[in-house]
Amino acid sequence: MLTRTHTKAVTLADLPPVQNDSLLALIGLAAADPRNDKIDVGVGVFRDAVGNTPILKVMKEAEQRLHDTQATKAYLGSWGDRRFADLLRPILLGEHAADERISGVQTPGGCGALRLGFELLATANPDARVFMGTPSWPNHAPIIRAVRLEMVEYPYYERGQGVIRFEDMLAALRSAEPGDVALLHGCCHNPTGADLSESQWREVTNVVVERGLIPLIDIAYQGFGRGLDEDAFGVRLMLSSCDEVIVAQSCDKNFSCYRDRVGSLWVKTGSPEATATAMSHVFQRAREMWSMPPDHGAAAVHIILDDPQLRAEWLIELAGMRDRINAVRQRIASADPRLAFIGKQFGMFSMLPVGKEQVLKLREDDAIYMADSGRFNVVGLGDDQIDRFIAAVVGALEA
Ligand SMILES: Cc1ncc(COP(=O)(O)O)c(C=O)c1O
Repeated sequence: MLTRTHTKAVTLADLPPVQNDSLLALIGLAAADPRNDKIDVGVGVFRDAVGNTPILKVMKEAEQRLHDTQATKAYLGSWGDRRFADLLRPILLGEHAADERISGVQTPGGCGALRLGFELLATANPDARVFMGTPSWPNHAPIIRAVRLEMVEYPYYERGQGVIRFEDMLAALRSAEPGDVALLHGCCHNPTGADLSESQWREVTNVVVERGLIPLIDIAYQGFGRGLDEDAFGVRLMLSSCDEVIVAQSCDKNFSCYRDRVGSLWVKTGSPEATATAMSHVFQRAREMWSMPPDHGAAAVHIILDDPQLRAEWLIELAGMRDRINAVRQRIASADPRLAFIGKQFGMFSMLPVGKEQVLKLREDDAIYMADSGRFNVVGLGDDQIDRFIAAVVGALEA
């Protein structure tokens, strides 16, 4: 769907500038800071103990095999690599993998999956409203606006206490009309790290069913929280309870292949026939936007998942990333009772209970770079930076 941002015709020279993406601006600021001991926790990728975002060993091996064996780069079609989606299916869907009412397609990353999922929803029902808890990943709102669906925001998180505003969430979803969309984070909530507990997922699912809502679950960090199956709990519960579910998935984090743009969109309807028709719209929208997804990353993930040895090694490397995230969380949480909430959250991100002024002061005085919102990436910290970070943050909390 084309986005029209102006009501009257304008020339290119009339275009107003777009507001800078503040996270991208932060990367530039951090890079330009000459201080040797600067700490960049604004970054949105996994980093190891010494601050690198390495290519996984299994990815290197798969890419080598791809290089050695790939015989053609002829077009694959709008569905991309079908075997990639088949291999991902049980990892994401678990006990629902054999359900013929669920269909999946390769997309350019989780972002492409979200766009395609919202395109499908807007095609089916342009009057649907999307209920989104705030704060959310900063690209959710622009994607929803781009497909011209109305957005209803509700408060998801109490920053001072580090807890979910669960009653507000339920009240908002109870006010939704049948056919409205509930946008939910599958796990490792970005930016807060505050995930729904299993009992909260059950309550949310009950409201979604009672109100006849369509859940769109964004799961970009499966395996970074508690484990692959545990992190898919909400996705699978919704699939058990609802006839219509959309899931936007990303492999960019759990295969550490961010720039290769690997993801998938999953659609469930009440029957295999209705799903096939919905997918024909999905392919049409994909054809209009990117024709077909980029092959390289998905082809490498396909090789990893298709080979028992590589798959086993991937699980070990994934567990290594998850363990580091959780170890850094525990180290920060145990340093000060005011930071204890960080130890109960999941994924790379958390939000410090600091205002913009304190964020700026941390930047100027301590060379610590985080988003204005106080969001920081726990594994943006190298092991030797954690103590200095904690001391500076505790200082900021006391100022
Ligand atoms: C919550 C969430 N959804 C989706 C995405 C998009 O992932 P990808 O890089 O695969 O497009 C991200 C990336 O940061 C994210 O945090």
